[in-house]
Order: sequence, then C-alpha cells, then structure tokens
Amino acid sequence: METLEDIVAQNLPKHVAIIMDGNGRWAKQQGKRRVFGHEHGVKTVRRVVEQCAKINIEYLTLYTFSTENWKRPKLEVQTLMRLLVSSLKKELKTFHKNNIKLNAIGNISALPAKAYKELQEVMEKTSGNTGMTLTLALSYGSREELQSAVTAIATKVKNNIILPENIDETIINNHLYTRNLPDVDLLIRTSGEHRISNFLLWQIAYAELFFTDVFWPDFKEHHLVEAVKNYQNRERRFGKTSEQLT
Ligand code: IPE
Ligand code: IPE
Ligand code: MG
Repeated sequence: METLEDIVAQNLPKHVAIIMDGNGRWAKQQGKRRVFGHEHGVKTVRRVVEQCAKINIEYLTLYTFSTENWKRPKLEVQTLMRLLVSSLKKELKTFHKNNIKLNAIGNISALPAKAYKELQEVMEKTSGNTGMTLTLALSYGSREELQSAVTAIATKVKNNIILPENIDETIINNHLYTRNLPDVDLLIRTSGEHRISNFLLWQIAYAELFFTDVFWPDFKEHHLVEAVKNYQNRERRFGKTSEQLT
C-alpha cells in the first residue's frame, strides 16, 4: 500500500482534478439504491480533501455535478442537491481546520436556491483561508463554459474593448470559470470509465491522466497517494524531447 512518505514533496502536481464516478454501481453491487452510493461518496470526498490538504496540493477540483446530470431522475437530482447542502454545512469545520478555501465553477445560478445560498455562504466564510483551494464543479459543463466565454469575448469585440487579432490563450483563459486556477496537472477518474464527460476540456490540454477501476465510495487515501506517485514517475515533455528537459 502506498503511504504518504512515498510522495516526493518537490514534484507535486499543483492542480489535481477528479471525476468522482461509480457511486451508483457501487450501491447496486450491494443490492442498494443509488442514493446509498452517493451518501458514501460524500465520505470519500471528506477523506480525499483532507489527504490532499495534508500532501500540500494547492488546487483540488472535484467534478460534483455536470450539466448533463440534470437529465437524471428528479428524485436522484433532489437527493444530490440535498447532500450538497448538508455536506457544505457539515464540512465548514473541516475547511477551517485544514485552512481550505472553497470555490465553485459552473452555472451555479442554476442550482436550487438553498444550495446556491449555502455555497455562497461557505465560500464567503472560507475566503480568508490561505491553504488549498477546493473547487467544486457544479452544474458544470466544459462546452457550456466555452460557449459563454465565446459570447463574452464576442461582445467585447463588438464594443471595441478587444481587437480580434489580440485574442490569445490568456484572453480565453480569463473568460473561463477557471480564470483563477492554473492548468490541471493530474486528472483522476474512478470507476473504470475512460472518458472525460465534458470536464475541463481546455484546462486538461497537458494534464496527466490516471484511471482506476475503483468505485468512488471505495477510493481511499492510499489510492490518491498511488495516483500522485504515478504522476511523479512520468516525464512531462510538453512537446519537447527528453534530452531537452535535462
Ligand atoms: C458519480 O457516480 C456521481 C455523480 C455523477 C453525481 P454516478 O452516480 O455516476 O455512479 P455510476 O457511474 O452510475 O455508477
Ligand atoms: C461525470 O460522471 C460527472 C460527475 C462525476 C459529476 P457521469 O457518471 O455523469 O458521466 P457519464 O455520463 O457516465 O459519462
Ligand atoms: Mg457515473
């Protein structure tokens, strides 16, 4: 089993993003309802958040609810929103204890009023914390994000605030929900699915990908350490040759 001591402090991923998947199948495996899986998934979130803070990851982004997830049965959506509210209330303590600042990306005004309000409150209350930035992707879809960035930039062009020839990667970055976050270094997806599901398409351009068959409720601290260690053993060339890096 991988332990914390196995991690080299100098070569940490600055930004880790996780597609937390497999709650439903985990529950089904035990003959339980999907909701049971989501409840256990919340416990994994707490463990992983604390572990990341302990390792000194600067940015952790969790895919919590996608724009496509609105298409799920109404009762499941309601349960997920209820879990979001209760977890935010409960975890404020955890955030303060670990000096974590809460952030959100996505079309959060689409959330039910209660969830929106709780989220705003916890973000406000943790805004002075200086440790890890924990970003929840809520009602988040990368294509929706890119579409609204294009609209915002086009409007500025129309109003002569930006010249078309000046549009560069920095300007695009500055119009994304993630404008205050660095690019993703390590993207983890649980549950054996090998896809991106509309998550951070722009931001993962050069991320290292790590897939595990473990369902999210079963994902433990040592799995995270394993993913980080695996990342640390890779050579990130960014288009260059190996020789150029040394
Ligand atoms: C991830 O688990 C949680 C959310 C997407 C909200 P799933 O609910 O997708 O679980 P599976 O993939 O159906 O097993
Ligand atoms: C992706 O998981 C969204 C979240 C983890 C919040 P899904 O379970 O919704 O993804 P697909 O639909 O199977 O690709
Ligand atoms: Mg899923």
